[in-house]
Amino acid sequence: MASKKYDLAITGGRVIDPELGFGRIADVFIKDGRVARISSEGKSAKLLQNFDKDQIIDATGKLVVPGLIDIHVHLREPGREDEETVFSGCRAAAAGGFTSVCCMPNTNPVIDNQETVKFVQDRAGDADARVYVVGAITKRSEGTELSEIGDLVKVGAVAISDDGRYLQNPQIMRRALEYAGMFDIPVMQHAEDSFLVAGAVMNESYQSARLGMAGAPPVAEEIAVQRDIALCRVTGSRLHIQHVTTRAAVDAIRKAKAEGVRVTCEVTPHHLVLTDEEIGKEFNTSLRCNPPLRSREDQEGVLEGLVDGTIDCIASDHAPHSMEEKDCEFDLAPPGMIGLETTLGLIKTHVIDKGYLSWADVIRKMTVNPAKILNLPGGRLQEGVAADITIIDPDKKWTVREKDIRSLSKNTPFIGWKLTGRAHMTLLGGKEVFRR
Ligand code: DOR
Repeated sequence: MASKKYDLAITGGRVIDPELGFGRIADVFIKDGRVARISSEGKSAKLLQNFDKDQIIDATGKLVVPGLIDIHVHLREPGREDEETVFSGCRAAAAGGFTSVCCMPNTNPVIDNQETVKFVQDRAGDADARVYVVGAITKRSEGTELSEIGDLVKVGAVAISDDGRYLQNPQIMRRALEYAGMFDIPVMQHAEDSFLVAGAVMNESYQSARLGMAGAPPVAEEIAVQRDIALCRVTGSRLHIQHVTTRAAVDAIRKAKAEGVRVTCEVTPHHLVLTDEEIGKEFNTSLRCNPPLRSREDQEGVLEGLVDGTIDCIASDHAPHSMEEKDCEFDLAPPGMIGLETTLGLIKTHVIDKGYLSWADVIRKMTVNPAKILNLPGGRLQEGVAADITIIDPDKKWTVREKDIRSLSKNTPFIGWKLTGRAHMTLLGGKEVFRR
């Protein structure tokens, strides 16, 4: 006899709600797509007697956490459906444990108007993850004329960004912050001064000198961040610095936060795990990304910011590119690497296992913190919330293999890497969207 009171039970896992600081063995009951009850270990034995076998998910030895949220992905639709689609990107997200993703507007055409926002939302209708759209700050992301920001917000854009490019004009940035402030959305900034990084293919460092490649100096990020903090201070609006990579930028953000400036920031797994020393080994074009992989010294500064809370969240910057375009000389390759399916394993192996953060810290930076930055509904695992749930096998040892990648693009430098920790199952509104 099947339980009628509940549709599904996830039993015996360690349930983590980063907001309540809840991390105990418990059973989670789901009804009509929502979390209906969470009860401590053993307390629901009687109730579970009424359940059919297929209504029970045994999560013993696993973590049961709010569906992960990635606030920085590129889904390439419209325009580059050969690299990724909303549908394929969401399949990759589900396999990586993400139930919500925020897609960047650097598509073709750029997502700078209501029709394009609605197009992407429409494509996401039956996808395996919730898709939140970030609209462009400026028309065609050209940095010269503001988009109709109110219109974008009206149809559901959760933030604005010209990601891939820095909004160089401070007057337009100031206005963008003022408008965004009226709607309480953040401006997400790709913070690299465009003049200083013009022509660069990697970090400016000993490594770029050794390899004879044009470098993007770390100070390009520092200057961009400092300017935007100043504008954020005078406007009182919210600024989110994307993929921070330098010690100086982290120091500036730390100081601004202490002052009460409304700035937040994210870091990618690749900037936490790789440095510019990797590039000269094989000239693997998957290592080319913007901002570039930095020196160990900068990476350490970023790790310090991650540990002390200056860095609010972890985001993949999942950036699919076709083989045809990546299979070329390093300096000709487009920047970016995919990340949705490797983020969790990289963070567990290289951040948790190395003692920088606990699981609870990581879950906070991958759920409730990003949800707060973009005013998203998810990120909590409490009674009454939508049952977006990720079950993580924290000890699963696995190897990154190209054939397992669900993304349409395979541009990752992590092929062959041995990792620990992987999403075991992903539920979206109580519905199974992925099971390993
Ligand atoms: O490496 C990157 N790739 N950085 C960006 O900012 C854009 C992204 C892309 O769209 O490929």
